[in-house]
Amino acid sequence: MSANTPRTVTATTDRHNGITNPRTHDVAVIAGDGIGREVVPAAIRCLDLAAARHGFGLAWTEYDWGSDHYRRHGAMMPPDGLDRLHAHDAIFLGAVGAPDIPDTETLWGLLIPIRRRFSQYVNLRPVRTLPGVPSPVRGADTMDLVIVRENVEGEYSEVGGRIYRGEPAEAAIQEAVFTRAGITRVAAFAAELAAGRRGLVTSVTKSNGIVHTMPFWDEVVKQTLAGRPGVRLEKILVDAMAAKLVLAPTAFDVIVASNLFGDILSDLAGAIAGSIGVAPSANLNPERDHPSMFEPVHGSAPDIAGQGVANPVGQMWAGAMMLDHLGEPAAAADVVAAFEAVLAAGVRTPDLGGTAGTEEFTDAVARHLGEAPAQR
Ligand code: NAD
Ligand code: IPM
Ligand code: MN
Repeated sequence: MSANTPRTVTATTDRHNGITNPRTHDVAVIAGDGIGREVVPAAIRCLDLAAARHGFGLAWTEYDWGSDHYRRHGAMMPPDGLDRLHAHDAIFLGAVGAPDIPDTETLWGLLIPIRRRFSQYVNLRPVRTLPGVPSPVRGADTMDLVIVRENVEGEYSEVGGRIYRGEPAEAAIQEAVFTRAGITRVAAFAAELAAGRRGLVTSVTKSNGIVHTMPFWDEVVKQTLAGRPGVRLEKILVDAMAAKLVLAPTAFDVIVASNLFGDILSDLAGAIAGSIGVAPSANLNPERDHPSMFEPVHGSAPDIAGQGVANPVGQMWAGAMMLDHLGEPAAAADVVAAFEAVLAAGVRTPDLGGTAGTEEFTDAVARHLGEAPAQR
């Protein structure tokens, strides 16, 4: 089979009675690189079990895109890759990135174009303390926050360039691009989310040092949240935020941040929860004009890839967020409850101080979701 041919890996028939399932969600899978190839199959196994318990099907179409595809074809995905993805209900991504290929090729050849073409302008990243998972930070036991990261503009811009390459006068310019529409929609999403939670939106800024874009961010966030009942806005400089997240991780509810600040704070918050291996992320197109994409916060982790020790919780949790998005909240809750029960029972991967490998951990989660031990 050519690398460009999608492979449907799971039948849409009900395992128990062989009848075609009336409710089937069509999901594109890109396991990608490194540990993405280890944690994606682990998560799919658990999501399939949850789907079977709740009477719906998941039709997975696996795309063999990523760094191997790049090495063979000189591109991370085929030229019509985005069009093909558009046909699916959702995209389930592992991670991309390889030490021998520049990140500008791998990430800007796959992840970033998907986020942008499908207008996935909200990057939703919940972080909370999980049962049985010790935090390296004192007092983080009840941390429960959501980072709403602007996902398609800001500091991640293609505007700029490099001049006088290799000469003493060499220079690089990168322009940050913030738009009123872009800030307004992400701030409105954060406000709505907070209204259904504890009502606090913390907006992360750097308007003391970045004198054009960040004061604009502050202004538009404030205007967007003005007059919203039940929502309180606080503003904090990103450097102070880094310290406060460590010193008072329970002080936050919904954090709204630009693309770069949201990225950095996600890894910090994930680490406070115990490991970036547990942090999930949803790249949402809230209008549902395009498919949304679900992936862990972490990357391809080349330092541990192939060792069978990657923590699959971030990928499983991202899968649960996908089920929720697809209208299957009960199945989503089951997946979360299953990995939480396993963590609470003390089964943990090495990043959390445990000794379980990816497979042992996944076996335990699968058993919670009803898989009989004899099946494998
Ligand atoms: P990383 O997240 O891959 O790894 C950082 C550290 O965390 C490593 O020590 C790694 O072993 C550990 N780690 C990450 N996930 C883990 C898990 N599930 N279980 C246990 N330990 C885990 O970040 P990096 O090393 O900076 O980046 C590696 C590559 O991944 C780079 O090419 C980078 O650009 C790319 N990347 C891709 C994505 C994505 O595809 N969404 C996200 C982040 C980084
Ligand atoms: C993330 C990643 C990406 C980002 C990189 C790999 C481009 O770090 O999703 O958090 O910064 O958006
Ligand atoms: Mn990141």
